[in-house]
Amino acid sequence: MEWQESTCYLNGEWIPLADARIPVLDRGFIFGDGVYEVVPVDTIDGSRAPFHARQHYQRLQRSLDGVRIENPFSIDTWLDMTARMIDMHPWPRQLVYVQVTRGVAKRDHPFPAGVKPTVFMNTAPWPEIPAEQIENGVPVVTHADERWLHCDIKSTSLLGNVLMKQYAIDHGASETVMLRDGFLTEGSSTNTMIVAGGNLIAPRKSVQILPGITYDAAIDIARSHGVAVELRPVPEAELRAADEVWLSSSGREVIAITSIDGRPVGPGRPGPLYRQMIEWFRQAKRADAAHWQAERRARKLAA
Ligand code: PDD
Repeated sequence: MEWQESTCYLNGEWIPLADARIPVLDRGFIFGDGVYEVVPVDTIDGSRAPFHARQHYQRLQRSLDGVRIENPFSIDTWLDMTARMIDMHPWPRQLVYVQVTRGVAKRDHPFPAGVKPTVFMNTAPWPEIPAEQIENGVPVVTHADERWLHCDIKSTSLLGNVLMKQYAIDHGASETVMLRDGFLTEGSSTNTMIVAGGNLIAPRKSVQILPGITYDAAIDIARSHGVAVELRPVPEAELRAADEVWLSSSGREVIAITSIDGRPVGPGRPGPLYRQMIEWFRQAKRADAAHWQAERRARKLAA
């Protein structure tokens, strides 16, 4: 099946993606007035499972609260819909996308009264993470973080992020890592963390960064294996002098950054803690997938 032939969910209906339509006055289109999630799905031990699905829908709830859109569903309903979406498509690896906007109304800035949110969910094949990137890492460039101060909300208003991703591409890099007032924030669509003296160091959660599900996972995994984790501001000089630098996201998992603005990170190769992390991350995905399958079985029995 090609992604164009997939089925999506739109406002209560499961319909061909090719037939899905929203009115032009949807506030998502007019104002970027909506929030979203991306949930990665992988095949583990022969069964497909989303990674940390519940955490994604908990974050969706926080994003919706942050922009005062009522959540149309409970987290369990979102999880059931995700399971159904995965089952409807043959791909072993998928990225499930969810978007909720404030709905359709005459163009006017204030929240419209009595309007139902627009709810959209679809899935697409998720290509393998290139082995070359895992082996050799990726180059990044840096740029001032010019985004708004609610980067903790996973808003569909992504113009600042889109411009920063294109900046990376225009400069032959894989990602743009942003700095605000001399401190690391995050990448255009990834979190960023460093390793120095054997410790994993990352900007703590604030309005300046998205609270990444993969960031949380990497930090939990590191701690569970006895790595000391420091969550604190990371000055630019420390970023540039780090032994290792990593990026993380649902689509890329954890990838080593091996050059910044053309200068190598450490020896310019993925470091030893990164090599351990990808192994630990695989194990964590296994455990999470087993948990998902057990929960699914329990819910089917209960339903
Ligand atoms: N991006 N920071 C930003 C700005 C992001 O857009 C993302 C994810 C992350 C990583 O978050 P997580 O680990 O929960 O995926 C950090 C998604 C994948 C996207 O927009 O496609």
